[in-house]
Amino acid sequence: MRSPTEFSAWKKLAEHQQEMISVDMTSLFQADPKRADKYQAQAAGWTLDYAKNRANDTTLSLLTELANEAGMKNAIDGMFSGAHINNTEDRSVLHVALRASQAQDTLMVDGVNVLAEVRATLKQMEQFVAQLHTGEWQGYTGKAITDVVSIGIGGSYLGPKVVAEALTPYKKDSIKVHFVANIDGSDITGKLKQLNPETTLFVISSKTFGTLETLSNANAARDWFLSNGGSQDNVSKHFAAVSSNVKKAVDFGMAKENIFPMWDWVGGRYSLWSAIGLPVAIAVGMDNFYELLDGAHQMDEHFRTAPLEENLPVIMGVLGVWYINFHNAQTHALIPYDHYLRAMPAHIQQLDMESNGKANLLNGDAVETDTGPIIWGGAGTNGQHAYHQLLHQGTRLVPVDFIAPLTSHNPIAEHHTHLFANCLSQSQALMVGKTLEQAQQELKDAGATDEQVAKIAPHKVIKGNRPSNTLLTDKMTPASVGALIALYEHRTFVQGTIWGINSFDQWGVELGKVLGTDIYNRLVSNSDNSALDASTQALIKAFKKAQH
Ligand code: F6P
Repeated sequence: MRSPTEFSAWKKLAEHQQEMISVDMTSLFQADPKRADKYQAQAAGWTLDYAKNRANDTTLSLLTELANEAGMKNAIDGMFSGAHINNTEDRSVLHVALRASQAQDTLMVDGVNVLAEVRATLKQMEQFVAQLHTGEWQGYTGKAITDVVSIGIGGSYLGPKVVAEALTPYKKDSIKVHFVANIDGSDITGKLKQLNPETTLFVISSKTFGTLETLSNANAARDWFLSNGGSQDNVSKHFAAVSSNVKKAVDFGMAKENIFPMWDWVGGRYSLWSAIGLPVAIAVGMDNFYELLDGAHQMDEHFRTAPLEENLPVIMGVLGVWYINFHNAQTHALIPYDHYLRAMPAHIQQLDMESNGKANLLNGDAVETDTGPIIWGGAGTNGQHAYHQLLHQGTRLVPVDFIAPLTSHNPIAEHHTHLFANCLSQSQALMVGKTLEQAQQELKDAGATDEQVAKIAPHKVIKGNRPSNTLLTDKMTPASVGALIALYEHRTFVQGTIWGINSFDQWGVELGKVLGTDIYNRLVSNSDNSALDASTQALIKAFKKAQH
């Protein structure tokens, strides 16, 4: 296992960065009239414009060389073939199998045809969703289900929630889907207040069926059901589960036929395509869920087969590495200009930061380079009136991905044209900035005195030369949303491959869980806390005092 710093392309990129440091992006456009056309790539209904980057042909060919040296092609083939690329857990990583083409019927992994299991689960989901939508599924008083509450956290929550929200225009009227995740009692209490136990069904989504937040909320939901007219015998009419731990779900009161399987070879943050996506399928119907899978599959095929230099996830991945490792960018922003996609940055944040927030190479050696960036963002244009100030004039370099549909689901008045104009103007402003001379002239034109010009102009200077990608699609459909999320999944893998880390485990979250249990025990007992640090002791005291 080699550190990426040992690749010859890495060394060449470090030297090349010195040449590029004084190069302005606008001069790259002037030097190459074909730049906009050249630095554009298409896949699965998406167009990526990556012309507004601090990169020229040499940069891109060195970045491709880096991807090649890191064994990108083999890594991609390894993932698609079911190799145990999650080496610390000795597991395959096969979210791509969940959306494989119907034309493929076999994918043998460790002696099992995983596609047979995937298809059987999809059939089970079809029946379940149809029963809910036709009203055939009835609650304990014979009424049809009107509300479904999905209870889960992390990967068993964010992906489905974000996709269900992204597909709002496709929602079926008959059933409302709600999501509960946090162990903060205010989350579930707020939801339950709106619901009728006779017509509410809970879907408990937990791969392990052992996650504190999910089990606490599932128990709270069952208590609410039992104390509002339901009985233990009727729990199975109002509770279903998605889990790889069937026994625990049965012990909870779930009927076996209402338990949907999960597999070791799907990581939580990559699981929305499995039965973890059941709330999405209930919200928008199985037809749209299949389209979502198909969109993701189109992106998978592109990722698997396209040459690296035309490959969207690879282009975005290597450009990210360029900024993180050669320009010291600490963060990366995602800014969708689409109201329904407003929560997408949170899903990609989880996907990327849980995957690439690592400090060890696959062989356990410490990394020598920075790895995953801080992913953040939110909907445009709202962010323009909040954090875009820092993007334009702050001291940090923040590469941005702008994401926008060309047409709107709600084309009222001039809204969409303004929305789209703002999206383009932000990437333009980041690149071109404003010089001191321009700022001075602007003030003079507005009638400012010389003194005012001297005082204000420096504050109006915007350095520019800040990079961004723009991703466009015709419309936010189930297929385009599926392709978009798959694109980011693969981008994460591309970067993890270059850094030589395992993007598919998450050992870092375990310590907090263990300590959380220990502190919980101290909060509810009279234990001797003197061995703890003084700060934690004082905080425990404060909590205990407030309970009396
Ligand atoms: O936060 C750690 C984690 O294990 C995630 O990877 C996972 O998606 C989440 O907790 C929930 O786990 P489960 O689906 O087992 O409840």
